[in-house]
Amino acid sequence: MTSTPRWFSETSDGHSQWYIERFRTMELEGVDLGGEARLVNALVPPRSRILDAGCGPGRVGARLYAAGHDVVGVDVDPALIEAAEEDHPGPQWRVGDLAALELDGDPFDLAVCAGNVMVFLAPGSEQTVLERLKAHVRPGGRIVIGFRTDRPYGPADLDTDAAAAGLLLEQRFATWDLVPYDDSADFSVTFLRVPSDPETR
Ligand SMILES: C[S@@+](CC[C@H](N)C(=O)[O-])C[C@H]1O[C@@H](n2cnc3c(N)ncnc32)[C@H](O)[C@@H]1O
Repeated sequence: MTSTPRWFSETSDGHSQWYIERFRTMELEGVDLGGEARLVNALVPPRSRILDAGCGPGRVGARLYAAGHDVVGVDVDPALIEAAEEDHPGPQWRVGDLAALELDGDPFDLAVCAGNVMVFLAPGSEQTVLERLKAHVRPGGRIVIGFRTDRPYGPADLDTDAAAAGLLLEQRFATWDLVPYDDSADFSVTFLRVPSDPETR
């Protein structure tokens, strides 16, 4: 690992298990946990190849797999990947640091970072993570990133890092069901595009 993600340095002992159990409970209670996957499914053709980047215990990738996509989920927390394997067989679940991502296989049509992944990365690693995601998504493919706006890393930081990584900012919404974004929004969903033109890549 290049440096320590906030997921480990800014959370308390037992946080991973708490997170796993929280989502297991919500699944059992019938809470709608599928908003991110529904949006992603609308953005890609059937049977696309999708990277669930910072997949946690797998709720987003699992739904995309059930919709017929080829899904790889990567997360730096082994406890969460173990839960994803147990609860959601089907997708390929991998332990890995997005800042050092090196996956074999065809490029992805889309990468999704749902549930605050960007604000839990190691501070200062965000541009590198965007570069690694870009390296794994096909020219013209998308990277879709959702996170709260009240953290030290905000949408303006994402815009700076995305531009430096050579990604195109296409759209920003306030929710996964596409409520328009403005400066009062407490959440952001950003659509980035990998340039199609090799000269801008
Ligand atoms: C709030 S959780 C979201 C999990 C999942 N995307 C979801 O929506 O349920 C944030 C995730 O980011 C992951 N993460 C943080 N830094 C990472 C890194 N450098 N590489 C891979 N995953 C990372 C954490 O392990 C954690 O699972």
